Amino acid sequence: MDIEVRNLHKKYNQFHAVRGVNFRIAKGRLVGFLGPSGGGKTSILRMLAGLEQPASGEIYLGGVLANSIPVQRRRIGFVFQHYALFKHMTIYDNIAYGLMVQKKSKEEIRLRVNELLKLVGLEGSERKYPHQLSGGQKQRVAFARALAPNPELLLLDEPFAAIDAKIRKELRSWLRDLINELGVTSIFVTHDQDEAIEVADEILVIHQGRLEQQGTPYDVYREPSSAFVARFIGESTQLAEPVQWAAFPELRQFQAGGNWKEGVSAFLRPEAVEVRKSDTEQLPSAGIGGVVKHIHFRGDAWCLEIDAGGTRIIAYSQQGSSDFKVDEVVNVLIRRITVFTPEGSAVLGNQSLEDPMPVFI
Ligand SMILES: Nc1ncnc2c1ncn2[C@@H]1O[C@H](COP(=O)(O)OP(=O)(O)OP(=O)(O)O)[C@@H](O)[C@H]1O
Ligand SMILES: [Mg+2]
Repeated sequence: MDIEVRNLHKKYNQFHAVRGVNFRIAKGRLVGFLGPSGGGKTSILRMLAGLEQPASGEIYLGGVLANSIPVQRRRIGFVFQHYALFKHMTIYDNIAYGLMVQKKSKEEIRLRVNELLKLVGLEGSERKYPHQLSGGQKQRVAFARALAPNPELLLLDEPFAAIDAKIRKELRSWLRDLINELGVTSIFVTHDQDEAIEVADEILVIHQGRLEQQGTPYDVYREPSSAFVARFIGESTQLAEPVQWAAFPELRQFQAGGNWKEGVSAFLRPEAVEVRKSDTEQLPSAGIGGVVKHIHFRGDAWCLEIDAGGTRIIAYSQQGSSDFKVDEVVNVLIRRITVFTPEGSAVLGNQSLEDPMPVFI
């Protein structure tokens, strides 16, 4: 089902945990709630589920105002960070639980549980108890249990947090495929930006009780709507000191008296930075000089930390394409800079280049 939230607030005593959140999620989307700890992600999820009441604001589920619909009638499946399976029940009974509560017939339950065991790849484990399964298997049981009553919305609160890195990667692509196949609207919470970028159709960045941005992973990465999102998603270099680079004359309008103006911050993405050898190429008017301070290998590229006149810049260099060394003097070509001001944001292109902003950087 589709979801709409209007001006949602949540308070715990005097503490204002959710501060006026608005969003819409279309039916069948797989959405990631991403943000630092304490931002309000779980609180929003629990209000959607009906496990917490908002202080104010409306929640519409499938177009119907749901604020006073009790949790068991919201048609929502919930998977928590910790397995939360019933320890004394078999896997079969765990999965069947919601159906037994709904008083379905034995035969109907048997068919559905068998179907789900197959779906989550755990046929043959129905007589086992939770302690006989691995962490990843237990989470699959939790998915099966949440899916059993055919929910129209699936809420997953850090479902992989307690699972080690390798299995976690496998589980997340498994989950993405499963949800795509089922077409059930799903929201999953994560701290992990790679997980959100890899799995979600759409990301909602949540910070200090507010929705900072909603968009596809591509949009949120490429056009962060605030300095917080630019810092939080992906690698970026913040230009702490105001710089005067000839290729970016517009930078001047954001500075006053040798400082950034109040509330202004400027960022570079590593893909918008190119590093070139200084001994093989002339310093083009578009570039600036720098010194390599640190190099480390990332698997797909080298990551270079460069000091450009006191400004620290991060750049990537494809493996094999160069052999930069620490302390080497280099030319740095910056293609674009994103500037945030209290009024909004601006993307500045390098004015010395013919095409300052090609699409894929
Ligand atoms: N039951 C509660 N009583 C009091 N304060 C609470 C309660 N639940 C949450 N909070 C506070 O509300 C804020 C938001 O909490 P919430 O659990 O929604 O954040 P979160 O984004 O899910 O964080 P995490 O990523 O750590 O799970 C936090 O500051 C938290 O301490
Ligand atoms: Mg949480």
